[in-house]
Amino acid sequence: MKILVTGGMGYIGSHTVVELQNAGFEVVIVDDLSNSSADIRDAIAQITGIKPVLEVFDLIDKEKTQDFFKRHNDIKGVIHFAAKKAVGESVQKPLTYYRNNLESLINVLEGMNENNISNFVFSSSCTVYGQPDELPVSESAPIKKAESPYGNTKQISEDIIFDTIKVTDLKAIALRYFNPIGAHETALIGELPLGVPDNLLPYVTQTAIGIREKLNVFGEDYNTPDGTAIRDYIHVVDLAKAHVIAVQRMIDNEMKKDFEVFNLGTGNGFSVLEVIKSFEKVTGLKLNYQIVGRRAGDVEQVWADSSFSNKELGWKAEKGLDEMTGSAWMWEQAYRQKT
Ligand code: NAD
Ligand code: WQD
Repeated sequence: MKILVTGGMGYIGSHTVVELQNAGFEVVIVDDLSNSSADIRDAIAQITGIKPVLEVFDLIDKEKTQDFFKRHNDIKGVIHFAAKKAVGESVQKPLTYYRNNLESLINVLEGMNENNISNFVFSSSCTVYGQPDELPVSESAPIKKAESPYGNTKQISEDIIFDTIKVTDLKAIALRYFNPIGAHETALIGELPLGVPDNLLPYVTQTAIGIREKLNVFGEDYNTPDGTAIRDYIHVVDLAKAHVIAVQRMIDNEMKKDFEVFNLGTGNGFSVLEVIKSFEKVTGLKLNYQIVGRRAGDVEQVWADSSFSNKELGWKAEKGLDEMTGSAWMWEQAYRQKT
């Protein structure tokens, strides 16, 4: 059973390829390596014993995408991770983000449609909820105006998929990820931000290893128990496993409607200080950090109502915060030893 994984060399994609191969799927990856490196394929092969097929091209190239689908018209499903994801950069380069994230989606959907491939899993984000009125946030919560062009590409993408489903044979599952962190237990794959990280965990591990001088904790005056912002951190391997279940659900015709949306979170919120405490406890290190002002555009607190995905997908995040911070640290050390 052949599955196309776009962006399969990236952080979440590579972990998903591992889980797909472990579950017996044949994987073909398309990635332009704009935010990843070709070595990841060797790491995947080391973990699973199988080197996945990789085609390197930019999915905004319509001809190349069409040609790809013609050559692989036996694909049974597509998991579409390929996208640019840096919120701050998207504010600086909105057109780059709209072009990359939307044109690649359109080209993939057209390629699927022309080759009668109907099963599509899309990487969406909790960013579509903004600061929800009610917590935990469920899939039926209203979509808030996006805070950034990146967030807007996820909202528009969901609309594009929904409109396409109405008039084609396409079926889709949008998975709204909360905050994926951590790395594979082998420490052979993990998160590899280019330049200075925006996200909390890579900043924490790079500070601990000495690449960054200190972590800035953005805001301690939020209306939360310790004053720092709260998120629903989810282990990337738990997240990856949900994709395998979603693909299988589509192939087995178990969907309740042609477009399903699921939250992928643990259902638990942790503050920035709690994440730091977990990291310090697990590693035995003292993290150099300081409290600074709030970061523009940050929501105060958000965590998932994961009951719908737990029930419908039969999936539940299993790994706790200490496993997430510990595995992120193992990966950071292993990666720096190699480079
Ligand atoms: P990532 O940058 O590690 O992986 C994305 C991969 O897609 C990279 O390997 C990149 O080279 C590739 N890519 C990007 N544009 C491409 C194009 N036009 N053609 C071909 N390949 C292209 O990101 P990730 O963290 O693994 O995120 C995967 C998906 O999940 C993205 O859609 C992202 O928006 C979404 N998401 C991520 C998070 C998160 O916090 N990491 C949260 C919610 C949603
Ligand atoms: C987490 C918390 C920061 C860095 C982003 C995107 C979202 C989704 C996930 C893709 C916040 C605090 C962070 C630092 C800090 N991605 N922090 N110091 O902002 O919840 O979500 O990634 O869809 O769309 O917006 O994640 O990891 O950046 O921040 O104090 O150096 O850590 O203020 O409270 P965020 P994050």
